[in-house]
This record gives sequence, C-alpha cells and structure tokens, in this order.
Amino acid sequence: MQDLPEIVPTHIAVIMDGNGRWARSRGLPRLAGHRAGTENLRRVIEACVEFGVKYLTIYAFSTENWDRPEDEVSGLMRIFEAVFDRELAELHRQGAQLRHLGRMEGISPSMQQKIREGIEITKDNDQLILNVAFNYGGRDEIVYAIQTMLSDGVSPDEVTPELVDDYLFTAGIPDPDLVIRTSGEKRISNFLIWQSAYAEWVFPETLWPDFGREELLNAIREFSQRERRFGLVNRN
Ligand code: IPE
Ligand code: IPE
Ligand code: MG
Repeated sequence: MQDLPEIVPTHIAVIMDGNGRWARSRGLPRLAGHRAGTENLRRVIEACVEFGVKYLTIYAFSTENWDRPEDEVSGLMRIFEAVFDRELAELHRQGAQLRHLGRMEGISPSMQQKIREGIEITKDNDQLILNVAFNYGGRDEIVYAIQTMLSDGVSPDEVTPELVDDYLFTAGIPDPDLVIRTSGEKRISNFLIWQSAYAEWVFPETLWPDFGREELLNAIREFSQRERRFGLVNRN
C-alpha cells in the first residue's frame, strides 16, 4: 500500500475525545457529537485491518464519565447499545475479536448481555483484537487486580510485573505501542496507566468524529519516526 511506513504499531490505543466540542461547533446537542463519534469508528477499524494493526483499544466510557449529567449518561448508553446492534455483524465479518476492559458491575443488564454475546460470537476471530474500554478506569483496574490477588492468596514475594499484567483486564494483550488522543488534549485521563508506561503518544488536534483513515495513517507515520529506547542508550 502507498505510503504505509515499514514499522506499524502492533497495538494502537485511542482516547476518543472531542465529541462534545464537535457538536458545539455545529450548534448541535452533545449527544449528536457522540453519535457522530460512533460513525467514524467503523472507518478506523477498517483502516486498522488494512494497515495490519493487530490490537486496537478504544476508550469509550471512563469510570469518571458516570458523573456527567444524567441525560448525557443515559443518552450515551442508548447510543452504545444501538452501535452494538448495528455493528456486531460487520465486526464479525471483518474478523475482529471483541474484548471488554473494565468491570461488568455498574453496567446495565441489557448492555452486559450484549457485551457477553459480542465476545462469545467473535471469540475465534484473529484479524484484529478490538478491546473496548467501557466503564474502565486505570486506577480501578489496579485496585481490582490487587483485590483479586489478595483473594487468590498470592504471597508478597510472588508479586512481579508479569504477575500484575496477568491480573489486569488486559491480561494476555501486549502493551500499547502507540496511544493517540484526539482533540488536542494532552493528558492520560486514567487510561491504561500501567500498560502505557513505554508507549509513544501522539496528540492530533482533530476532534474524534472527524478522525478517519488519513489521520490514523499520519499518527502511524509519526510513530514510525520515533526512536523507542525503553530506558537504554541511543543505538547510533
Ligand atoms: C469523548 O468526547 C467521549 C466520551 C468521553 C464518552 P467528550 O464528550 O469528552 O467531548 P469533549 O471533550 O467534551 O469535546
Ligand atoms: C476520556 O475523556 C474518556 C474517554 C474518551 C472515554 P474525557 O473527556 O472524559 O477526559 P477529561 O475529563 O477531559 O480528562
Ligand atoms: Mg472530553
């Protein structure tokens, strides 16, 4: 393919930000921005398959987002359920395997049901692993890991970085190589705080609903120019 860098990240994680501002700039309600922010998702998933990205993680709803106004939260939940109904068959056709990052508790029973079905239907696919961070917070993930380790009777000397990895929602998934946060904000907002320790970050100004194949390609290009050192010394 034309202009695809030689080095493509294995795992891309995305903080899909800017839906509200996208709507406001058009004089629309915030929920219209959230709806628009689901329509470009299909393009981004398709582009990941095209570029040979193996893992895509998307930040859809954080543990803190529950504290937004009630009508925005309930509207978002309706939008997510509709996206599931509309997109699952297409995701399956593309060979994507769906995974959930976050706690199930707190999510409505009907949404939980859809998530479980989506995971079950797509479990043998391996074209793209699509992790959806929903009701996800990095701190909550670490708290949950510690709680589970303690209830499993893990002893202090058994605790290693590898064991912690195994207790996170991302168990078995390699760390993200590239994290993209759209809309120009430059902060982590409780996303993959353990896993992104050595990720490369890019911060496109584009608001999430306007982010598509070309913007993704630009982010991959920027990534391919970075020299990752992991605390070691320069190769040259
Ligand atoms: C991101 O867009 C989507 C979610 C957090 C669910 P925002 O809703 O945060 O959009 P802005 O940041 O207000 O523009
Ligand atoms: C992070 O965006 C959460 C998601 C994209 C789901 P926010 O818009 O909630 O983050 P802050 O509040 O700007 O840090
Ligand atoms: Mg935001």
